[in-house]
Amino acid sequence: MTEIAVRVGVAEDYEAMSAVFGTAMMFDPSGDDELGKRLFEPERALVATDGEEIVGTTKALTRDLSVPGAVVPAAHVTGVGVRATHRRRGVMSALIGRQLREVPEAIAVLWASEPGIYGRFGYGAATRGVSYEIDLHRVGPPVVPTRPGELGELTVDEAYKELPPLLRALQERRPGVSGRSELKWQRHLEDKKEDRGGRTARQILVHRDETGAIDGYALWRGKMNWQAAGPTNEVRLEELVALEPTAYKALWSYLLTMDLAATLAYGYAALDEPLLQLVTTPTAMGRRLGESLWLRVTDVPRALEQRRYAAAVDLVIEVTDELIPANAGRYRLTADGTTARCARTDDPADLTIPVGELGATYLGGRQLAEFALTGRVVEHTPGALNSATIAFSWPVHPVSIEVF
Ligand SMILES: CC(C)(COP(=O)(O)OP(=O)(O)OC[C@H]1O[C@@H](n2cnc3c(N)ncnc32)[C@H](O)[C@@H]1OP(=O)(O)O)[C@@H](O)C(=O)NCCC(=O)NCCS
Repeated sequence: MTEIAVRVGVAEDYEAMSAVFGTAMMFDPSGDDELGKRLFEPERALVATDGEEIVGTTKALTRDLSVPGAVVPAAHVTGVGVRATHRRRGVMSALIGRQLREVPEAIAVLWASEPGIYGRFGYGAATRGVSYEIDLHRVGPPVVPTRPGELGELTVDEAYKELPPLLRALQERRPGVSGRSELKWQRHLEDKKEDRGGRTARQILVHRDETGAIDGYALWRGKMNWQAAGPTNEVRLEELVALEPTAYKALWSYLLTMDLAATLAYGYAALDEPLLQLVTTPTAMGRRLGESLWLRVTDVPRALEQRRYAAAVDLVIEVTDELIPANAGRYRLTADGTTARCARTDDPADLTIPVGELGATYLGGRQLAEFALTGRVVEHTPGALNSATIAFSWPVHPVSIEVF
């Protein structure tokens, strides 16, 4: 093996990068991937090469993310793959290390294929999601009556126009939600037959308020399944966004009471998903907890200034960061409900927080106090841990509703 080099991507790398990543993840990249090519940002990709051959890849996508009290730029990292012939020789470490030092955003986020991979680079699991495998015969939902015209369906062309404002509104309500450009929406609603896994075409269900305005939608597919004992059809819910309680209840009621269906699978529920309040038998929901969005703070003062805090706080935080030494040091964080200021200081630290734990708590879904229990976060001034834990928390849990 010659020496491994890392360089910035070029447009012509697209196919070779897709092949390396596809083989690493064990899927066949689609031959006709026009939208994928248009979404590719070569100048934000890094490739590792062994001679002429690409042996490792990573990409950063330009997207925004909702964080407590704001929507901010976040490098969306994806496409991390290393050829099996070159694994465990530091190729990923070289790619991720350089990427984190170079991204212009103050935070980077990703979905990890395995939870053991990214902690070593200072990523923390900031969002924990819940997946459901609901037994529709047992779950016992209330049946919500709807008025004529309240529920309806959209074509894909209508959805391009109608759905983006709802996602933006969701970003204002919950941290952890990634924004979508027009092109990204096209990709999201693309519905190639070969990607359906035997399910129906995607159905786009919407809820309208009394004025006719859409205030909620659900993207779902069905799968016919007949057993000797009768129908056991499967509903797969891909996304549900509801801005009002009436929309939320009506959409879920529709989905949970569909004729012939026995199960409903959904992979993107929040830890505090309100559905738990609506069903009578939560034990029939087949709940499984998992890490979803991992977050890495790449610029401490900028990151801490661009989110809002649940309570006023004035503390000196010592951040430790082995990968990006420029991040390490002491910072005074001063915030009230509406403003935040974070600057370097020589004052003694009230708390020490490793950068990974700063990432894990950044979206308000994990508690600093949780990490003090294992000694990862250390309190130096009595009371500092409580005030910081309350200030960093947020009234609603973050949720990431899309693997990117
Ligand atoms: C995961 C992957 C990118 C790692 O690439 P790599 O070049 O072998 O990684 P490195 O050699 O830089 O490994 C660095 C460290 O991470 C560890 N590591 C690598 N993959 C890991 C995994 N899946 N789980 C836990 N630890 C892992 C290594 O053991 C090594 O630890 P060490 O420093 O203590 O020895 C590669 O194995 C791969 O492509 N896997 C399949 C696709 C995939 O899962 N991609 C990630 C998508 S989010």
